[in-house]
Amino acid sequence: MLHKLVMFLGALAVIFSAQAVAADKDPNLGLIKARQGHMQVRAYSAGPLFAMSKGNIPYDAETAAKLANNLMLLLQVDVGSAWAPGTDNEKYPGKTTALPEIWSTYPAIAEAGKKYKAAVEELAAVAGDGQSALRSKIGALGKSCKGCHDNYREKK
Ligand code: HEC
Repeated sequence: MLHKLVMFLGALAVIFSAQAVAADKDPNLGLIKARQGHMQVRAYSAGPLFAMSKGNIPYDAETAAKLANNLMLLLQVDVGSAWAPGTDNEKYPGKTTALPEIWSTYPAIAEAGKKYKAAVEELAAVAGDGQSALRSKIGALGKSCKGCHDNYREKK
């Protein structure tokens, strides 16, 4: 009896680990992680810029210029293939907050991308020129992040 139970549990363990391996092998999960990682680095770079513009942390010209340049560099990183069709939050609930509208209304999202790009470029041109210069451009950046999230990202 005990022997059978052990065998049964052993078989279950094999089934569960096989499932874990199958999930790891789904390449779409890697794509989702890559684009989320890209977004995380945007937030890592933009966060202190928002804080500096509000005066929540002291303005530092060198840091501001560097972080705004990070956002510029991220524009050069092509993560287009990480936004593969079939990787929305209905197909991967709990794994992604990307709404199906990204694909069903494509290429509408490209407009949001263009606004974002313009906001980053305008910000990067002046971010190191003082807090008020940073302030004059940070609002457009925040709006461009939020504008896209409002339409294409699942609300928390
Ligand atoms: C053109 C659209 C668009 C723009 C612009 C945009 N995002 Fe996103 N962002 C998304 C989408 C879509 C997701 C959901 C990705 C997913 O879960 O697969 C997302 C997710 C995120 C996440 C969560 C990542 C995770 O680990 O789940 C953060 C943080 C984020 N964005 C920050 C930003 C910041 C900061 C900006 C502006 C500096 C920005 N985003 C601009 C579309 C955009």
